[in-house]
Amino acid sequence: MSQNPFFIGQPVPPKHFVGRKADIATAFDQIYHRSNLAVWGSSGMGKSSLLEQLISPEVWEQKGQDISKAVIVLFSCLSISPFSSTSFWQEVLSLLRDEVDNDSTLQAQIDKFLEQGQATKDSLRRILRQLGKQGKFLLLLVDDYDAALVPNGQYTETDIENFLNECRNLAYHCRERQYLSMIVTSSRRLSEIGPPLKPGGSPWYNHYLFEQLKPFTDAEMKALLGSTMTPGLQKGVREIASGNPALLQIAGYLLYQGAKSGVGAKHLGDNSSVEPKVYSPNASPSGSLEVPETFAKDFESAARHYFQDIWSFSNELEQTLLILIALSNLKGRLHNQRYDLSGIEIIFSQKERELTYLEERGVINCTVEEGKKRYSFTSSIMERWVVQELSNSDDASLEKRKKVLLNLIIFLVTTASSQQI
Ligand SMILES: Nc1ncnc2c1ncn2[C@@H]1O[C@H](COP(=O)(O)OP(=O)(O)O)[C@@H](O)[C@H]1O
Ligand SMILES: [Mg+2]
Repeated sequence: MSQNPFFIGQPVPPKHFVGRKADIATAFDQIYHRSNLAVWGSSGMGKSSLLEQLISPEVWEQKGQDISKAVIVLFSCLSISPFSSTSFWQEVLSLLRDEVDNDSTLQAQIDKFLEQGQATKDSLRRILRQLGKQGKFLLLLVDDYDAALVPNGQYTETDIENFLNECRNLAYHCRERQYLSMIVTSSRRLSEIGPPLKPGGSPWYNHYLFEQLKPFTDAEMKALLGSTMTPGLQKGVREIASGNPALLQIAGYLLYQGAKSGVGAKHLGDNSSVEPKVYSPNASPSGSLEVPETFAKDFESAARHYFQDIWSFSNELEQTLLILIALSNLKGRLHNQRYDLSGIEIIFSQKERELTYLEERGVINCTVEEGKKRYSFTSSIMERWVVQELSNSDDASLEKRKKVLLNLIIFLVTTASSQQI
């Protein structure tokens, strides 16, 4: 039997990487100019996979760039636990040392820094100068940069500011910046998760070009699913998985697996024998796949940690808006209780900025019906998950949520009365 062509649980290998042409072109422009890039996007949107692309010699060749000039270091800040700036510079220097294994002089210099406890940005600056003399540069690919922006027991808010200033100094102010290109990834825009800019303070993120990894376009989805699925099934998968590549891969994986073992026949509502490579489900009246409960459950369980991540990277207000969207689509009915959701449009109209941001991140969709904006989840299963989370919440978290809702209502009342004045 043929191998499952879908990937779960790891960045997709370059051979199976789909789309993202513009993002890759942007990354190579920045690399070419020895400039910096901050890529951001929800969990599962493909940040780590994109970085894997940037270390592939074939991709460099396709882009007409000379990989032999680059010394590439790739790591995730999540691998440094607990995070500290010293451990960060240590990690950069150690990995860089491994990459220059044909240069014993440079290796000896790095060893000296590491042994003498001098793993600092200034040591790296000296190494950059050496690389520059050899006509080379460092491509520093730092995944999950969020971890560098949250304090821990040994890493205070001040340490964060100092660390970010060190990075800016290296990548923007010092002469050796011409031998460095830094690409970082994070779940949200850096300006939202890092320390706010202080008047007169250094703008710690202004040297990055920002690039958001958006949900897959229709063409990208077709490229991923088209060789194994009929158009009807692709449409059905899109409804449950939205354009999030990780969710699409999970749905594809489960369907392929199911079709191979025969369970797919049940998933697809088709009792005939299933050809392992091409799915042909019974289409619903809308032309898309009706997802049976068994498949929905398997999918939800495999995708749960992505939903959890998207949820926990949302702030309290965004979470509350997501709950309101889920409830409004249930027409206020949840576990035999009815919630009065009249006036919800007013809340939505006052919070358009947050809703647009959720839309940009691919979590929700906005459509206009009879002149009114209607919000819905891009993944119907995520919507279901949110409702379940709500009904499983303990009293303390429900109380916390009520407070956010109350604040929203107070905000509305205040805005309404100030408009009357
Ligand atoms: N461009 C892509 N082509 C195909 N699959 C992708 C692509 N980007 C991501 N994926 C899929 O999504 C999953 C999550 O990708 P990953 O790079 O780990 O996302 P992130 O780092 O943003 O959380 C991968 O396991 C892979 O299956
Ligand atoms: Mg990742």
